[in-house]
Amino acid sequence: MEIDWKNLGFGYIKTDYRYVSNFKDGRWDDGELTTDDKVVLNESAGVLQYAQTCFEGMKAYRTVDGKVVCFRPDLNAKRMIDTCKRLEMPTFPEDRFIEAVKAVVKKNIDYVPPYGSGATLYIRPYMFGSNPVMGVKPADEYQFRIFTSPVGPYFKGGIKPITLRVPDFDRAAPLGTGHVKAGLNYAMSLHAIVDAHKQGYNENMYLDSATRTKVEETGGANIIFVTKDNKVITPKSSTILPSITRRSLMYVAKHYLGLEAEEREIRIDEIGNFKECALCGTAAVLSPVGKVVDHGKETLFPSGMEKPGEITQKLYDTLTGIQMGKIEAPEGWICEIA
Ligand code: PLP
Ligand code: COI
Repeated sequence: MEIDWKNLGFGYIKTDYRYVSNFKDGRWDDGELTTDDKVVLNESAGVLQYAQTCFEGMKAYRTVDGKVVCFRPDLNAKRMIDTCKRLEMPTFPEDRFIEAVKAVVKKNIDYVPPYGSGATLYIRPYMFGSNPVMGVKPADEYQFRIFTSPVGPYFKGGIKPITLRVPDFDRAAPLGTGHVKAGLNYAMSLHAIVDAHKQGYNENMYLDSATRTKVEETGGANIIFVTKDNKVITPKSSTILPSITRRSLMYVAKHYLGLEAEEREIRIDEIGNFKECALCGTAAVLSPVGKVVDHGKETLFPSGMEKPGEITQKLYDTLTGIQMGKIEAPEGWICEIA
């Protein structure tokens, strides 16, 4: 295995082992680790016809003292349970989820990138309806799997500021599935993202679909802003995914950096008042946003297009410092694997 850790992008690289558990007759089997990366399904499997699938995203980090850890996996397990309930899928128990994550990472330990390389081992738990369905109804059988892949930065150029546009597409309906990690949310975002790229933007900044006046999130990350008086704010909405990174950053802002941090509704017409903006998520970590374009109206944040703003940089350094074992973590945030 020859991997150029420093030049990895965010793509799939096959690792040696994955975890599989099957749900049948109302119960999960014991689960196992396998080297087989193929999934074989009936042509009418629920996932293929009615997109009954959901996923999670997390990372394993190599710490400064050579350990391998992951970050708040209990929250991923809980969020997947919420997602499964919304999609009429069976839930995978939290303790088994965490054990399975640890087992897969241990078996792929050589793929956990070295400390300081800028790369991490992405962990992808997912579940889908596996038996044939014809009428629109939930499947009776499911597969829960976890694979891993070493990854670099989600956005090319790493910490260089990106540009968002406000699209003419919505991501989530008021009583829809925006708050859970359903595969369907991502399928319907593909057209908007391809179109954004064609027009020269990195990502879409979605608005709330009910009024199209409030900032929500992008297709794969939450958003934070920094006000001119150094308050960290993030949109409050029932239709965005409750990002674990965002929840952690709000805590870091308050308890590590001594800043005010607030979740509140944020109007698109007030973003010109803010001095910094960034996307946050497991894949995105904390990616600075330099500019937002809303139908010809450009907002260039004072932090500019060359480097992250000062608060964004401090948040980034503190969060990644906690994840890599350089800064003491709050109780329960770090789960040691090896
Ligand atoms: N929002 C969306 C739509 C996402 O897909 C993700 C990625 O998981 C996030 C936000 C960030 O969430 P987290 O920080 O839990 O990875
Ligand atoms: C993550 O941050 O883990 C995600 O799932 C975002 C994206 C790759 C869909």
